[in-house]
Amino acid sequence: MAEEGKFWGGWSERLTALRNVPPVLRIVWQSGPIVVFLGLFFRLVTSVVPLGALWITKLIVDAVVDIVSRHQPVKPMLWWLVAGEFAIALFGSILARVIDYLDSLLADKYTRHISIQVMKHASELDLIAYEDPVFYDRLERARVQATDRLGMIQSIGRLVQQVITAASLSISILLFSPWLLLLLIAGILPAFLGESHFAFLGYARNFRQTPIRRQLDYLRVLGGSREAAKELKLFGLKDFLITRFTRLSNHIYAENVDLARRRLIAGSLLSMIGTLGYYAAYVYVIWRTVMGSLTIGTLTFLTGAIVQASANLQQVFSSLSSIADQALFLTDLLAFFEMQPTIRSKPNALPAPRPIVRGFEFRNVSFSYPGASRMVLKGLDFHLHAGERVALIGENGEGKTTLVKLMTRLYDPVEGQVLLDGVDLREFDLEDLYREIGVIFQDFMRYEMTARENIAVGRIDEIEDLALLKTAADKSMASEVIERLPRHYDQMLGRRFDKGVDLSGGEWQKIALARAYLRDAQLLILDEPTAALDARSEFEVFQRFAELTTGKSALFISHRFSTVRMADRIVVLHDGRVAEDGSHEALLHLGGRYADMFELQAASYR
Ligand SMILES: Nc1ncnc2c1ncn2[C@@H]1O[C@H](COP(=O)(O)OP(=O)(O)OP(=O)(O)O)[C@@H](O)[C@H]1O
Ligand SMILES: [Mg+2]
Repeated sequence: MAEEGKFWGGWSERLTALRNVPPVLRIVWQSGPIVVFLGLFFRLVTSVVPLGALWITKLIVDAVVDIVSRHQPVKPMLWWLVAGEFAIALFGSILARVIDYLDSLLADKYTRHISIQVMKHASELDLIAYEDPVFYDRLERARVQATDRLGMIQSIGRLVQQVITAASLSISILLFSPWLLLLLIAGILPAFLGESHFAFLGYARNFRQTPIRRQLDYLRVLGGSREAAKELKLFGLKDFLITRFTRLSNHIYAENVDLARRRLIAGSLLSMIGTLGYYAAYVYVIWRTVMGSLTIGTLTFLTGAIVQASANLQQVFSSLSSIADQALFLTDLLAFFEMQPTIRSKPNALPAPRPIVRGFEFRNVSFSYPGASRMVLKGLDFHLHAGERVALIGENGEGKTTLVKLMTRLYDPVEGQVLLDGVDLREFDLEDLYREIGVIFQDFMRYEMTARENIAVGRIDEIEDLALLKTAADKSMASEVIERLPRHYDQMLGRRFDKGVDLSGGEWQKIALARAYLRDAQLLILDEPTAALDARSEFEVFQRFAELTTGKSALFISHRFSTVRMADRIVVLHDGRVAEDGSHEALLHLGGRYADMFELQAASYR
């Protein structure tokens, strides 16, 4: 009973999924209108080839029988018929190849189109979406669908062709005897229902397995990654990973085998019914020919038509079921495309202020990450004045990086407001706002691209201006690193690609810093940009930083007090709020958290 409920529930779900077909057809059309049009046109032409060929065969057979039975001379007409059938066969086989060619063109175009659309859309979504595993599963499925759903396009094309072929043949059968057609359809229907049922179960299974497949992918990547290799070896993690991988994949395998077995048994039984229907029709036609109510040519025609019509009808049903099945998968792709970012520019958004006059202000800001009950920021008030350099400090997990994400509007606060020159950040045009912000995050990107590209990502429009890139590299001391590389600015960084060279943590940091300087923004934020730098480099970097940011607002986060004390003002974050705020001397004098932390660090140097 439960199984039955699932069956019918599944059906309504599948029919709903067919609603996805039109939007997907639109995507297919957009990816290559001319190819789609030509493909359809040629399929229309091909679809009547079988009927034409059979009919000519009938005429030929009848003519031959006539000649033989009545001892007549051969008429030239007979040879014309043979030539006609030859021409049709030739034409049909060339058309089939042309259609294959168009299909493969469309496949490439569609994959490319969808991949680009998925990339585009993924980049527009909120950062917050990436913290949601459900989103990840959906993105994963959408990504797979970008390449795996080609079958659907071909199924649709084929369906058009099969429907016309089956219809033309069926009508011709119907004209001879409606019973024949009924027999055929009755034979095929059960197989179709069975196939669809299993296709649906397959989808449900894939859907269920996505989280496990993601884990498997992660383990596979981890097992083969260069970054992990050191720890995997030294910690002896190989067996641990392999055991986990085996356990998870066994689970998937067992489920798959179970389904495949049931499908095999049910499919075999149901297709026997189809074969039975076909032979019953066959017997009926032979019987009528023997009784003299059909000619031998008609017998040939009908048996051919029955074979082909039943094959085509079967294919129509299986195409339909595969389209419905694929359409279910597309639910995820379309749902992914329908996800809208909430962090976006309003209509008539304001341009970012140039210059910034009053600076950034947090007013009673609270924030928690989705799915987490703990508030990271609780009613935080904080002001970064224009032209001011503020050091933000606090222990691990106090919310420093989170504050940066709110200030740069990668997230919106749950409560309260972040203001720029007295105006809520949400009022500004997002891209224009981002243009005024240069930020290097703690977990900045190490692009596996050339040194030049690694710097230019800070202002990608200027990638051709090598002089500009070099100036930025000088400021961040990245130029010394790059001078030492064999191919200098054209050196491929990272080990992923041929001739790539890896850098040390501190060297990467200098490169990343160059991006921030290249950016030429009004607000510069460095989230522990010097954590991997040696003492001398750090000192130099910060001296330059002080010079380079005069007249700009700057916020930097550091756990090193030697760096922190260079700031105009120091802000201590604790328990979701600003706990202390003032100059180095003032805070030492206060004798609070800052003084404690400073003492702790200073003591270890004595
Ligand atoms: N993406 C996230 N999803 C859920 N919780 C998060 C996320 N990022 C950070 N948190 C939590 O928010 C709190 C603040 O994190 P945040 O990264 O802002 O700390 P931080 O002050 O920058 O720490 P650190 O000095 O280690 O860089 C932490 O408790 C952390 O566990
Ligand atoms: Mg941090």
